[in-house]
Amino acid sequence: MKTLSVLGSTGSIGTNTLDVVRRNRHLNEVYSLVAGQNSAMLVEQILEFRPRFAAVATEDAFAQIVSSLANSSLPRSEWPELAWGDQARIDAVRAPEVDTVISAIVGIAGLPATYEAVRLGKRIGLANKEVLVSGGALVMEAVREHGSELLPVDSEHNGAHQCLRAGNRAQVEKLILTASGGPFRNTPREELASVTPAQALNHPTWRMGNRITIDSATLMNKGFEVIEACWLFDFAPSQVDVVIHPQSSVHAMIEYSDGSVLAQVCATDMRMPIQYALTYPDRCEAPVPKIDWRQARKWEFQPPDFEKFPLLKLAYECQEAGGSATCTLNAADEIAVEAFLQGRIGFLAIHEIVQETLSRVRSKTPRTIGDILEMDRASRVCARELAAGRLASPVTA
Ligand SMILES: NC(=O)c1ccc[n+]([C@@H]2O[C@H](COP(=O)([O-])OP(=O)(O)OC[C@H]3O[C@@H](n4cnc5c(N)ncnc54)[C@H](OP(=O)(O)O)[C@@H]3O)[C@@H](O)[C@H]2O)c1
Repeated sequence: MKTLSVLGSTGSIGTNTLDVVRRNRHLNEVYSLVAGQNSAMLVEQILEFRPRFAAVATEDAFAQIVSSLANSSLPRSEWPELAWGDQARIDAVRAPEVDTVISAIVGIAGLPATYEAVRLGKRIGLANKEVLVSGGALVMEAVREHGSELLPVDSEHNGAHQCLRAGNRAQVEKLILTASGGPFRNTPREELASVTPAQALNHPTWRMGNRITIDSATLMNKGFEVIEACWLFDFAPSQVDVVIHPQSSVHAMIEYSDGSVLAQVCATDMRMPIQYALTYPDRCEAPVPKIDWRQARKWEFQPPDFEKFPLLKLAYECQEAGGSATCTLNAADEIAVEAFLQGRIGFLAIHEIVQETLSRVRSKTPRTIGDILEMDRASRVCARELAAGRLASPVTA
């Protein structure tokens, strides 16, 4: 039996996690739920999963939860402890009862609580990007020191984790991460300047939160995954390749020194890697229909176009550079994506803002989570100024 804390329970990964829990009640119970602003969904989750602790990001959302619970049939004596704010996210993972934390808050807000869970030696089902992209060196040091288990929930890293269990790590020469190629895989570069947020949000294979969907359209997300893979599995950036695979059925491959390649293949559904992270090293009944091998299918593989998607190349360069470059990369990208989604900048300006922020914010070696948060803040200030200076050519949905 696992006792869970779900950070980001109202998001795409969070709701999929709770669906896996729903299907395996005998294996999992929920101790704490953490959301941002979506108090209506959190109240529904509280009533269904009956956690002992629930938290939101703001005082307003907290007041809404109190009022909705007061109007519900749940007696006050059975309410969870309720909290809001930065400290509440950390408190949600601290209880000794919690052995497994699903880290699925979007953004840097997910880092401190996940780091705390790592320091407390818990199992982390990791979806949040910032934990390793912004805090990779510190987090991995803490994983080693405290013996915590980092199980990737991202389908590519989860696939890599499964492949790496099959053989001797010392004989693995390459990790190959697949990418769907996003909605603009076949769009000529000249046309990218005028694509709209609605077009960019139309991901061909996955339904995800807005930020990660735009990052998939620019291939920034794949760049983040390269960085995460380096930390998770101790690879140099040059050992991690990306291949475009529009069907998204093969999630990752590893190549041994003799040229043999192992691939991990499963249904394109996030409940697969989430369940794996919860049940590892065991497996249980598939949460979604299995691939039907009686159906004919075609799988394609193409190299990525680094010229058309320069953010992917930038991710390799930042990981090579080390220090806080990847933290700045992430922070600047988040601001640029936000500006794009609000129609304040064009699609190609996302890369320009990120590149310019990297050249303006000096890289440092962060020693604490506080240092990372400060670096993240400074990078955002810079990226915001740059985005504000580009108001001239707005693109609307
Ligand atoms: N979706 C995927 O398939 C996928 C795959 C791999 C990795 N990831 C990564 O996993 C993370 C979550 O992705 P997602 O697609 O699930 O995002 P999402 O649908 O946007 O959900 C984000 C979650 O974070 C919560 N949140 C945001 N700010 C918060 C704060 N300050 N305090 C507490 N909670 C906060 C949101 O709460 P409210 O909605 O209540 O405001 C929501 O529950 C991201 O880092 C993403 O890159 C996602």
